[in-house]
Amino acid sequence: MGSRHDVGIGPSSSRTFMNAQFNPETIREDFAIFSTNPELIYLDSAATSQTPKQVTDSILNYYENFNANVHRTIYSIGNKATQAFESAREKVAKFIHAEKSKSVIFTKSATEAINLAAAAWGRKHLSAGDEILITEMEHHSNIVPWQLTAEVTGADLKYIPITEDGELEKWENHISDKTKIVAVTHQSNVFGTVNPIKEIVEKAHSVGAVVLVDAAQSVPHSQVDVQDLGCDFFAFSGHKMLGPTGVGVLFGKPELLEEMDPFLGGGEMIKTVNMETSTWNDIPHKFEAGTPNIAQAIGLGTAVDYLNNMGMENVHAHEQDLLQYAVDILSNISGITLYGNPQNRGGVVSFNVEDIHPHDVAQFLDNDGIAVRAGHHCAQPIMKRLGVSATCRASVYLYNTKNEIDRLASSLEKIKSVFA
Ligand code: ALA
Repeated sequence: MGSRHDVGIGPSSSRTFMNAQFNPETIREDFAIFSTNPELIYLDSAATSQTPKQVTDSILNYYENFNANVHRTIYSIGNKATQAFESAREKVAKFIHAEKSKSVIFTKSATEAINLAAAAWGRKHLSAGDEILITEMEHHSNIVPWQLTAEVTGADLKYIPITEDGELEKWENHISDKTKIVAVTHQSNVFGTVNPIKEIVEKAHSVGAVVLVDAAQSVPHSQVDVQDLGCDFFAFSGHKMLGPTGVGVLFGKPELLEEMDPFLGGGEMIKTVNMETSTWNDIPHKFEAGTPNIAQAIGLGTAVDYLNNMGMENVHAHEQDLLQYAVDILSNISGITLYGNPQNRGGVVSFNVEDIHPHDVAQFLDNDGIAVRAGHHCAQPIMKRLGVSATCRASVYLYNTKNEIDRLASSLEKIKSVFA
């Protein structure tokens, strides 16, 4: 610790950074990976973001000073662990503007969060004839859990199609009296499209349906407010927002979480256990069976502090600037196809280089020290819609710079000449 970006594990710091002071070059000093890999140009934060020292320090601090189980002990380091774990829950709740911290369930990932809702809410509320509405733009983690739930409950799985620009096509026509749940991504991991969640929620609620938002790509990059959005469930991951792997979050409206049966059974999630039956703990603990991801949740709490310290409005503005810069530069390189052109978009650019397989492009870029993702991005329905098997994807975060985008562009120019 000791840098000007200290955040500690106390309550969230106030937003002290103004636009003029937001400096990616200084921010990079907080990330050990950039000093151990000085040549690294990391453009894959949509897959996993890098982790500042403040976050790794807070995890180390837990292991070195008060490593103990939570909610079970009456000795002091156990109490300290419980306090730090529950304080992380409070920080996360505030970060997404949840009214109550009991709405925040720690899971291992956004994927597990969606599986939890799909299984526990789905089994309770869905039956044959009901419709689950998702979109062609979803990550597999917001498709497959619904396929499993449809299989078990007999409900039908329907899709909102997407346009060539990577936007939802006439989404409102797909919500009907049969729709019981709409599960939609807040921000596409392939196009960056930011979907009109508030409007979708209003329409879904008007027919009595609930809405789950996959917010894995939005929470790290913009200010979110679950009360303003009005959504019923909201899922995201720690490792895409400067936190560690192994922790995700499911936000749920308390009244929905309370009526749902547990997802996993075990210690902690019960009130009483008899030989034949058991009763359930209160939320959120009812959905946190077993020893939870204590260190990871504490690390996520510190990541929230870090982002608050930077100011999410600054993070967002910086990424919008980089996005615009990247789109302008890449669209002027002949032979590069950019996929999607949504009106409202986060810092993600998917592209291919004419006649060169995206894996070859990514390998070549790696030789130049540039990390991008290549593949189907866990979004095979999108690839099918685009008529490609894979794309390259560059995604930005608060530590990226325009100079890195320039380096990406010149490396792509070089690839074209090498493969010509
Ligand atoms: N969901 C992550 C991505 O889009 C892994 O890359």
